[in-house]
Amino acid sequence: VGDERRAAEEAVRRCYSTWSTTYHDEYYGEGAAHPPVHRDLLLRLLADAGARDVLDAGCGPASFLRHLEGTGIRPFGFDLTPEMVAEARRVLGDDDAVWEGSALDPEAFHPPGDPGRRFDAAVCAGVLPHIPAGTDADVLGFLAGAVRPGGLVAATARNELFGLFTLNRYSRDLFHDLIDVEGLRAEALPEEAEGLEQGLAAMDARFRTDLPPLRTGEDGAPGYDEVLSRAHNPLALRDAAEAAGLREVRLLFLHFHRLPPLAGDAVPALQRRASLAMDADPSDPRGLVMASSVVVTGTAP
Ligand SMILES: C[S@@+](CC[C@H](N)C(=O)[O-])C[C@H]1O[C@@H](n2cnc3c(N)ncnc32)[C@H](O)[C@@H]1O
Repeated sequence: VGDERRAAEEAVRRCYSTWSTTYHDEYYGEGAAHPPVHRDLLLRLLADAGARDVLDAGCGPASFLRHLEGTGIRPFGFDLTPEMVAEARRVLGDDDAVWEGSALDPEAFHPPGDPGRRFDAAVCAGVLPHIPAGTDADVLGFLAGAVRPGGLVAATARNELFGLFTLNRYSRDLFHDLIDVEGLRAEALPEEAEGLEQGLAAMDARFRTDLPPLRTGEDGAPGYDEVLSRAHNPLALRDAAEAAGLREVRLLFLHFHRLPPLAGDAVPALQRRASLAMDADPSDPRGLVMASSVVVTGTAP
């Protein structure tokens, strides 16, 4: 295991270690900023696939898996963060259903005592942001390897292209990324340097770079925006899924925003209603820029 991966994983572990008992409430509970539309979509996908069991890679405190109760689908999962594993075992009441492991390690995708086991489906929600650039196809390949041939794979990511709609810090980051600002600075002739900085400043001034507020951590642990938390270009994610050997690859979109967030804040109830109405159709292509999350799905070869 490389030093860089080890350091990134340690920061992520510390970030989530303080979150095991509150995470479900924050993201799935009554007070959640957004209803858990990814839960409903994943449940629908699993039902449509006729899955009888599922592996959740990066299962957190069984925040999704606990909602399988009554569906007849048997939950399994693993997570990088020991506190999450302990909470998931407690919630599911089954120590063997959850184990510790990293999504960057192919062995984690099978139960410790049963390395040959294949599941009907594998899901992975909220984990791809935390894995290093260049490893997406690896993780998607491990998910494919965890399921039987024809089994379902579904993985969620943050949609980088949403920055084209948000007019905030995400836009600035996306523009800088697309432009490759450091690369362009290196290409600029000495007499162009000042003009380039002026142009970039004029561009950045278009965006509310103070929004959204940075998510900092608790009890000295780093917050979500202080650890590796990448957003993905959905089209590149589709390529990675195909490179991983998945078949029938599709992109679905979640957490639609009818207005850019900073405009929606002026009419919160309308924004929520109109945005949720768009979430009813995850295949709406406007999601490429209007949805903050993307789900890549496919079937295993
Ligand atoms: C945003 S939470 C999502 C939890 C759950 N999947 C859900 O959707 O409700 C992300 C989880 O991924 C875990 N995680 C982050 N990086 C991981 C990795 N490389 N391998 C396994 N789990 C990881 C964290 O510990 C955390 O519990």
